[in-house]
Amino acid sequence: KPFSSPLAVSSPSPASLHFIGTREYVIQAQRVTKLVNGCRDILVLYHQGELHAMDLRCYHAGGPLLNGDIEEFNGQSCIVCPWHKYKITLAEGEALYQAVDNPTLTPLRTRWCSKGVKQRVHKVTVVNGNVYVTLNDSSEVIESDAYQTEKFRANRFKG
Ligand code: FES
Repeated sequence: KPFSSPLAVSSPSPASLHFIGTREYVIQAQRVTKLVNGCRDILVLYHQGELHAMDLRCYHAGGPLLNGDIEEFNGQSCIVCPWHKYKITLAEGEALYQAVDNPTLTPLRTRWCSKGVKQRVHKVTVVNGNVYVTLNDSSEVIESDAYQTEKFRANRFKG
């Protein structure tokens, strides 16, 4: 179930800082979704003492990361998309997968590999007890950009 916007009022801030909620609110909620700047659905997560923000919809097929579990893979905290279990690092939006180099070996030996950054992550700042997000506006195309459309926005809280 999504969390509604916090009731707290944001303090004046530079235009690039988008108010998400009080730090207390975000920590308690652990996951907050917000349409930022009228154009970007993001997910803000609190995990093991750190705040992270990323595009809400999974880069693979638009799955709702809001409902994903967070697990450690290869020493990195990842959100696991509930639709097809793709793993995305919270820190960088990197897509991780396990490769098998030699399928004839038993037991199979796997190693973690990266597909590179597939999910756009955004910067989180805490100012005077309030949490803000600065959108990552790099011009490089990142695969999760494809799901920041009106169609997906209208359905953003559906699993
Ligand atoms: Fe996320 Fe497929 S939509 S893994």
